[in-house]
Amino acid sequence: MEKGEFYVIMGPSGSGKTTLLKCIAGLLMPEAGKIVLDGVDITDVPPHKRNTSLIFQDYALFPHMTVGENVEFGLKLKKLDKDTIKSEVKHTLGVIGLAGFEDRMPRELSGGEKQRVAVARSLVLKPKLLLYDEPLANLDYRLQRKMEEELKSIHEEFGLTSVYITHNQEQALSLGDRLMVINKGVIEQVGNTDEIYLGPENVFTARFLGEINVLNGKVAGKEGEFVRVATEEGSFLGRGHGTFEANAQVFYCVRPEKLRVGTAPPRENSASAKVVTTIYRGTEAEVILAFNHENRVKYIAYDVTPGTFKEHEALNVHWRPEDAVVLSEVSKVKDIDIDKLIYGS
Ligand SMILES: Nc1ncnc2c1ncn2[C@@H]1O[C@H](COP(=O)(O)OP(=O)(O)OP(=O)(O)O)[C@@H](O)[C@H]1O
Ligand SMILES: [Mg+2]
Repeated sequence: MEKGEFYVIMGPSGSGKTTLLKCIAGLLMPEAGKIVLDGVDITDVPPHKRNTSLIFQDYALFPHMTVGENVEFGLKLKKLDKDTIKSEVKHTLGVIGLAGFEDRMPRELSGGEKQRVAVARSLVLKPKLLLYDEPLANLDYRLQRKMEEELKSIHEEFGLTSVYITHNQEQALSLGDRLMVINKGVIEQVGNTDEIYLGPENVFTARFLGEINVLNGKVAGKEGEFVRVATEEGSFLGRGHGTFEANAQVFYCVRPEKLRVGTAPPRENSASAKVVTTIYRGTEAEVILAFNHENRVKYIAYDVTPGTFKEHEALNVHWRPEDAVVLSEVSKVKDIDIDKLIYGS
């Protein structure tokens, strides 16, 4: 991780995200490898001497202490003088939008306020590395958006390096400078958020960050910058990641928002389909389509009203070759269940 980065870690439950943060913070000892912070090997340094600070999902505030006492706790351990502690606490609470909250008890705070106290308690220590373990998971949608903005501006204002775990892909995409996708303790892909969203290197990453339609196919040849893939539903062109041998088994992937429907199909990358079901969400609709051989794809339509898509209605679906990705790898983890990954929810 680079200095000053907002580094987001994503992965399924049990993939090792918290374990990794605990190793960085010194709460767990890695069996192999080392942790280097600012060029110094800190693998054997105890947690309180590492200059890292971990913020848990459940905030872990001390319930019997006031907000002020919670925030000053770490400074007291550092044995700073009383006046310095007082002014640091006041300043930090101000930055986080909780000026004057010193004497409140945690039980008298809302979820968002508790979260901010937890952040203040970490910030006041001026850590080199701020570690967040799904800090916003318990907040409602609007508060999450607001806190995301605040965390990002704190990150920039304090010139921090932040490592942030989330399950939430919107949060990952909006907060992250860089993103790491892990699976069963293995790094599937690292890159900036655009690189990963637009150029996933394997099916796991493609499925994990955002939704994507996947068709099984075989390499039928190379055409210019594109790879041609023969699938049950027709032969399609897409951007290939890696090298492709003729007839190799591959996965042809298109994101739902990249599909288009219309009556006059272009020559390439089009297929006829029927509407299976539609879920309307305000002006946006999620339409499940079935191709002729019953492979299903999801299509996201914008600016529509209920009734725009009728069940069994026949449509022509098309998409641009540059919007499709051809992948040969399912995952870096070898014993993964491919069917569950592709067809499971
Ligand atoms: N101290 C430990 N010793 C051995 N195994 C552990 C230890 N702590 C966690 N594990 C196991 O390691 C795996 C990864 O756990 P971890 O808590 O890092 O997952 P996670 O990615 O944070 O998941 P979640 O999203 O559910 O929080 C799990 O299978 C867990 O049971
Ligand atoms: Mg965890």
